Amino acid sequence: MKIKLEKIKEEVIQALDQIVGADQLEALEIKYLGRRGELNKIMKQIVDLSKTEKKAIGQLANQIKTDIVAEFEKHKGATDKKLVSEGALDVTLPGRKIESGHLHPITIVQKELADLFTSMGFMILDGPELESDYYNFETLNIPKYHPARDMQDTFYIDHKNKEDEFDMVLRTHTSPMQVRAMQKYGAPLRCVVPGRVFRNEATDACHEHTLYQLEGLMIDKNISIANLIAVVKEMLSGIFKQEINIRVRPGYFPFVEPGIEFDMGCLVCHGKKCPSCKHSGWVEMIGAGMVHPKVLKAGGIDPEIYSGFAFGIGIDRLVMMKYGIDDIRHFEGGDLRFLNQF
Ligand code: FA5
Repeated sequence: MKIKLEKIKEEVIQALDQIVGADQLEALEIKYLGRRGELNKIMKQIVDLSKTEKKAIGQLANQIKTDIVAEFEKHKGATDKKLVSEGALDVTLPGRKIESGHLHPITIVQKELADLFTSMGFMILDGPELESDYYNFETLNIPKYHPARDMQDTFYIDHKNKEDEFDMVLRTHTSPMQVRAMQKYGAPLRCVVPGRVFRNEATDACHEHTLYQLEGLMIDKNISIANLIAVVKEMLSGIFKQEINIRVRPGYFPFVEPGIEFDMGCLVCHGKKCPSCKHSGWVEMIGAGMVHPKVLKAGGIDPEIYSGFAFGIGIDRLVMMKYGIDDIRHFEGGDLRFLNQF
């Protein structure tokens, strides 16, 4: 083994004398010093030696490795000097800047929302994007063949879940986490669930097929719609850091009673009417309401004792309003000229 080690050193010195160019130098370095290189192959055999041999050969191997590394360094220095003297390498040129990545605007706002809700005592939960029909629809009081299913054009997966043979869907909203959270944590409960959802949409300036929502759920004794409005106002003023024009109107969702929707004054056109607000001056932002007794029951919570509110806000639209972005399709477009502005 001693002879082999010394032979490797000799080989390297000879080879270094003959190489031309940085590529050959790199290949040689990999051949001898690489993870699967000649030197490591021998070093791996040291474990099989006796204790005294191990010590002697180990020391020699380390010394040889240090010598070989020094030979390579010497050679690299000489090559650089040669390149500079020949004018092939100009060390005075500025280096190439290494670009650093940054967060996507949706992630930035999602993090701000998480901070805001944590400060109000809400847990932040995560849920599956591939969801069972049971949680996405059935537990939310939307049985099969109910016309309310048409409100959310769904991507069904040609596959059933193993436990209860329900169809699987790409979740159409974050609301399936309502019952999942109730079943896991019971009442009282305060949580938000940010996440990606999917709909079979014909896209336009304010509709995407892949979008982000944040579900909010609060269950306790004596919760009313006044609590819902207060929390939504707190959320919007926390994100926009200013008073926001909102309008509340009735909305239909089978899993709340009563159901409402929040619209906010369009901050892209400031009421002048544009494609981002479907030329109305208002952007539909949040679906919400008081959790339906059937949903509380599906979550194992007694509706005679507890009540709660739930809401689902479209994060994409929130980000559009915050930064004055005129088309939702920029978010998934991957155009760096757009993304580099954040
Ligand atoms: C829902 O998804 C309900 N789950 C909301 C809810 C939760 C109601 C809890 C009651 C209780 P809706 O389909 O309206 O509702 O979507 C909620 C929000 O997501 C909308 O107000 C909008 O801001 C956003 N949104 C919905 N569809 C799209 C889309 N295709 N593109 C962009 N944003 C969308």
